[in-house]
Amino acid sequence: MRTEAAILWGRGEDWSVEPIELAAPRHGEVRVRIEATGLCHSDAFLSTGTLPSALPIIGGHEGAGVVEEIGPGVSRVKPGDHVVFSSVPSCGICPSCASGHQNQCDRLGIMGSGRQLLDQTARHTARGRDLALMCLLGTFSRHSVISEAQCIPVDPAVPLDRACLVSCAVITGWGAVVHASGIRPGDDVTIVGTGGVGVNAVQAARFAGARRIFAVDPVPAKRELALQFGATHVADGLESAYDLIKAETKGRMSSRVVVTMDVARGDVLQPILRMTAKLGCIVLCSLAAAGPQPLTLNLFDVTMREKQIVGSLSGSANPNVEIPRLLGLYQDGLLDLDTQVSQRYRLEDVNTGFRDLKDGHNLRGVVLCQS
Ligand SMILES: NC(=O)c1ccc[n+]([C@@H]2O[C@H](COP(=O)([O-])OP(=O)(O)OC[C@H]3O[C@@H](n4cnc5c(N)ncnc54)[C@H](O)[C@@H]3O)[C@@H](O)[C@H]2O)c1
Ligand SMILES: [Zn+2]
Ligand SMILES: [Zn+2]
Repeated sequence: MRTEAAILWGRGEDWSVEPIELAAPRHGEVRVRIEATGLCHSDAFLSTGTLPSALPIIGGHEGAGVVEEIGPGVSRVKPGDHVVFSSVPSCGICPSCASGHQNQCDRLGIMGSGRQLLDQTARHTARGRDLALMCLLGTFSRHSVISEAQCIPVDPAVPLDRACLVSCAVITGWGAVVHASGIRPGDDVTIVGTGGVGVNAVQAARFAGARRIFAVDPVPAKRELALQFGATHVADGLESAYDLIKAETKGRMSSRVVVTMDVARGDVLQPILRMTAKLGCIVLCSLAAAGPQPLTLNLFDVTMREKQIVGSLSGSANPNVEIPRLLGLYQDGLLDLDTQVSQRYRLEDVNTGFRDLKDGHNLRGVVLCQS
């Protein structure tokens, strides 16, 4: 079929919204009408090149839609089902999946190629060329063909323009706190960068029984929103946060520090280590440019105070369990998704959405792919 998608043809270029050809789903694949997709900072890294990928590529991975057609062998979903996408493929049977780490599925390596999970070929073409898909999803599109392994069926009562956020921003921020940080009720928690992912870390910290929640963000509107989502204290940078945390905790510092700022760099880790309590944990969610970079770290402090630094991908969560659970919390009024959507865009306006993200205007911009 013919549909439309936002394609990145070259690094540093704008997204080009144009017609594409979509082949029929093959074994284990489904065609989905994409209803909504959030603008995650990771998509912005495709054009900067911070996130290496094949080109040309259809962006977008934080999405939700309705199944229209299923290929042979599909058993998980049927036409008409509402689905939220998992931004990581989890095959369910590799050693990582089978040992409970579906977010680290061994098939993750295929993501760089952007080709189908089944056979590493393309279903999407434009201008006579095969197109890669961000996270094997390519949700900046009116329709896509993807593996059923990345389609999580959800209650159709949940509006898809909110449900889409759970696909990445929510599961990532939430899981960084509840799965990766080792939080215990009464802990002091710091969230560095309270954008789309960070506010969900704030919500999770409140839910998990944090005592104080320090939100650090240079943008005043983000700090204001962080307070609405449950932060108890705010700071505009790492230095002021250090002074604030030191004063409030009487020098014990923050037991859990979750890093969700726009981009990770070697030079931010030492100030973050300083604000971490002994036996505390730093969870790194932010992406850094691929490859090694200089790092100055007080290793004496790490050893003597038994501090941990851990990475977290997709909230260190099992998407098959966590996505329906988070939507259930939303339906019960315990998780706020509504306030997170600060702006809605048409697919044609995806470049405006990214400029707004870069300029700090949005907590989360959402593209309505059928409007
Ligand atoms: N690990 C994962 O699975 C995963 C998933 C999604 C996103 N990410 C990454 O997480 C990061 C955040 O993504 P997002 O979509 O929430 O981005 P975002 O742009 O919505 O939020 C980033 C926030 O960081 C703030 N910030 C900038 N400089 C700062 C500083 N010096 N100190 C504190 N805050 C600062 C910005 O003002 C903004 O509010 C990105 O690097 C993204 O690629 C990782
Ligand atoms: Zn994302
Ligand atoms: Zn697997």
